[in-house]
Amino acid sequence: MRNTRSNLLLGCVLLCSVSLLYLGMSGIECPAKSHRYRWMELNMAAANRSLSLNEHFPEDTPLIFIGGFPRSGTTLMRVMLDAHNAVRCGEETRVIPRLLAMRATWSRSVKEKIRLDEAGVTDQVLDSAVRAFLLEVIVGHGEPAPRLCNKDPFALKSLSYLARIFPKGKFVLMLRDGRATVHSMISRKVTISGFDLTSYRDCLTKWSNAVETMFGQCQAAGTGRCLPVRYEQLVLYPEEEMRKLLHFLDLQWDPSVLHHEELIGKAGGVSLSKVERSTDQVMKPVNTDALSKWVGHIPSDVLSDMAEIAPMLARLGYDPHANPPNYIRAEPMASAFNYSQSLRTAETPHPS
Ligand code: A3P
Repeated sequence: MRNTRSNLLLGCVLLCSVSLLYLGMSGIECPAKSHRYRWMELNMAAANRSLSLNEHFPEDTPLIFIGGFPRSGTTLMRVMLDAHNAVRCGEETRVIPRLLAMRATWSRSVKEKIRLDEAGVTDQVLDSAVRAFLLEVIVGHGEPAPRLCNKDPFALKSLSYLARIFPKGKFVLMLRDGRATVHSMISRKVTISGFDLTSYRDCLTKWSNAVETMFGQCQAAGTGRCLPVRYEQLVLYPEEEMRKLLHFLDLQWDPSVLHHEELIGKAGGVSLSKVERSTDQVMKPVNTDALSKWVGHIPSDVLSDMAEIAPMLARLGYDPHANPPNYIRAEPMASAFNYSQSLRTAETPHPS
């Protein structure tokens, strides 16, 4: 009887010790650190700062924003930069351009602006909230790196706004011959709200308007903040273009950017989305296969009106009447100065 009781007691003691040991160990085990936590550690160590981790994200974070019209080589550009040892871009976030579009509507309506000011929701409050949201998403959705970058094509419709809320941010605007871009959209059924995929005329007109908005803001930001990169030049002369780009971004030359395909899926390399449209194409090394795929697909009535339908072609240095233009000997893009001059000349009434 006494033996049974002491065995029972011993069993209880053993069970309690094992439970305590287990609880103690799980208490000691650290939870996995978030990307954001690790990024803040990295940045604070680099800047030798002792900010609390809850402190607001600094507005002088030198973010890189890549954008442009979809199907202009924006994914290729971001994977090439992702291959750089100091940069992480990652997949499209999709929410960033949506928030920026919403923010733009809040300022557009005078009535709404008065209501918001009355409520204390001033531009300053909104800007710091948008900045925090963007940083939280950009920092949190991928591995930490000394330079973080974001690629969401239409985010650059708000380039001027981004340049204001991130005074150290830099912008890479991808440009491509609109005929190729629109052919790619139509043939791959890439829907963009408001674009009629059954009409080259409609898509080219709207391509020109959208690119004009982004290119105008890029020029207004200035050459130190925004670099336009033509897709054709990037695939024809990748080293020359990437050297220019890295210099613009104040980054050292890293030859890995010319072989992004070797770093796909590797730690600190290139992470690809399973659902983005361009994933199957960016898995390949840089190539020139897509340069003239559009030739022979655009209706002749649209071809003959091309200069009027898509005035941005000529401004970006693409001959609107050449099918295809000679991409190897690219014409220069219109500079901000040349463009405003040509507008003034066009507006001046002719003497009768
Ligand atoms: P096509 O559909 O004409 O082939 P985005 O990523 O901005 O949507 O751009 C898609 C375009 O980028 C595609 O155009 C594709 O060919 C091009 N692209 C993607 N990966 C490429 C690579 N490795 N080399 C050259 N072009 C590439």
